[in-house]
Amino acid sequence: LVLVVDFGAQYAQLIARRVREARVYSEIVPHTMPVAEMLAKQPTAIILSGGPSSVYAEGAPRIDADLFTAGTPVFGMCYGFQLMAQNLGGTVSPTGAREYGRTPMTVGEPGTLLADLPGEHRVWMSHGDSVTAAPEGFAVLASTDVTPVAAFENTDRRLAGVQWHPEVLHSEHGQEVLERFLVDIAGCRQTWTMVNIVEEQVERIRAEVGDARVISALSGGVDSAVSTALVQRAIGDQLTAVFVDHGLLREGEAEQVKQDYVAATGVDLKVVDAREQFLGHLAGVTDPETKRKIIGREFIRVFEAAEREVLATPGPPVKFLVQGTLYPDVVESGGGAGTSNIKSHHNVGGLPEDLEFSLIEPLRTLFKDEVREVGRQLGIPEAIVARHPFPGPGLAIRIIGAVDEERLAILRAADAIVRQETTAAGLDGEIWQFPVVLLADVRSVGVQGDGRTYGHPVVLRPVSSEDAMTADWTRLPYDVLERISTRITNEVAEVNRVVLDVTSKPPGTIEWE
Ligand code: XMP
Repeated sequence: LVLVVDFGAQYAQLIARRVREARVYSEIVPHTMPVAEMLAKQPTAIILSGGPSSVYAEGAPRIDADLFTAGTPVFGMCYGFQLMAQNLGGTVSPTGAREYGRTPMTVGEPGTLLADLPGEHRVWMSHGDSVTAAPEGFAVLASTDVTPVAAFENTDRRLAGVQWHPEVLHSEHGQEVLERFLVDIAGCRQTWTMVNIVEEQVERIRAEVGDARVISALSGGVDSAVSTALVQRAIGDQLTAVFVDHGLLREGEAEQVKQDYVAATGVDLKVVDAREQFLGHLAGVTDPETKRKIIGREFIRVFEAAEREVLATPGPPVKFLVQGTLYPDVVESGGGAGTSNIKSHHNVGGLPEDLEFSLIEPLRTLFKDEVREVGRQLGIPEAIVARHPFPGPGLAIRIIGAVDEERLAILRAADAIVRQETTAAGLDGEIWQFPVVLLADVRSVGVQGDGRTYGHPVVLRPVSSEDAMTADWTRLPYDVLERISTRITNEVAEVNRVVLDVTSKPPGTIEWE
């Protein structure tokens, strides 16, 4: 276990991911956690993240100096590096010279941390203060025009630090530097794999569940597909998965869940065909928030009814509910690694008042790319594992205007073409998400064959993002855009115009509603 101490920068999650990419398990802890508590977790190493502030700023986060004498290897990055320098008797000076962005750096004596790296390379910097003198006993390894001490190490004490951000892709050799610390200085073993995770979780779930029964809701997304498959691997038919088909998924997606997913995982799946019910309630509704509310409400109603049916079938008590919570959600809500117990919100629909489900959240420690890897280990079809994020309300919020079968069919056909072409062009990896939006109440004049048309536009909304909080429009190659446009206007009769959304987020959101 490597602990990443979060000093409030947005980089802690990225550092934790990079450590895991080096096949060493990592967890994030807040800098307010007492050092004794950190050490009680018996970490193999501790990494201090960057932070927004100067070590001289009022209220700047500190760390207890005991951390550096405990014998546990410590690596400081940026703010963490400066904290180390200050605590260990080096000098941090508010030189006033800022370095920001890609910065050329000169390696002097490379030591262990920078061994075999080019003498000059570029690293990502973001700081105001600089370390001007290394602590006693520490070797200075590199410098820049502005920063005399850009990296230092003391291999006897197994302490090291760098002024830059090795976790950022713009830092050349960043991952190598991180691995040098983890492996060569701290002695971590690179054994973290998704195979181990599957085995561990299967055992843990079996022990926790015993003979009880478990319910899971499958949405068609990656997280619920993987968490459900993991639980089914552990307890087999004690699990019932419920898939509410609300009719708002894209072409082929419901079938993938109902057929391919079931075939691959052997899960006992209860499919509720609620398409008419959802479309009935959505009829004539154009307001985005109203659409969302209706879909949320109906989903709970349908799921509760299915739950009651499962509860009514003879067998051991149903005690658990599976949830696909991921590590970033846990970190962001300030939570630890334990499991929580909820009073199910489902009891509003007429379940016994005192019915409580415990949550099983087998993905609580994982990042999204790790979840996909677990999914592959479990044999879930690639078409599901590689899926881009898709909103719960589905295509309903990609039809601008009222939702009906006919409009859904138009959008599904256009969306399917987009997915085929981006996949064929090998672009799925660099696109975060690619909504296709039907402007159902807009018509424009066109000409096709020898006749005038009066059809609908569709909007292409490909975006690149790290976390959906901010996003940029993806610069798709013109030839791909051309193929998409030609195919949609030829193959989808009701659409005579294809337009591209070139708005970043902010100010636009990713979805149109
Ligand atoms: P926006 O449009 O707010 O979307 O930039 C950010 C991310 O959230 C997804 N999204 C939703 N997901 N229920 C969901 O489960 C919703 O109501 C919903 N609205 C937006 C969106 O697809 C994007 O990934």
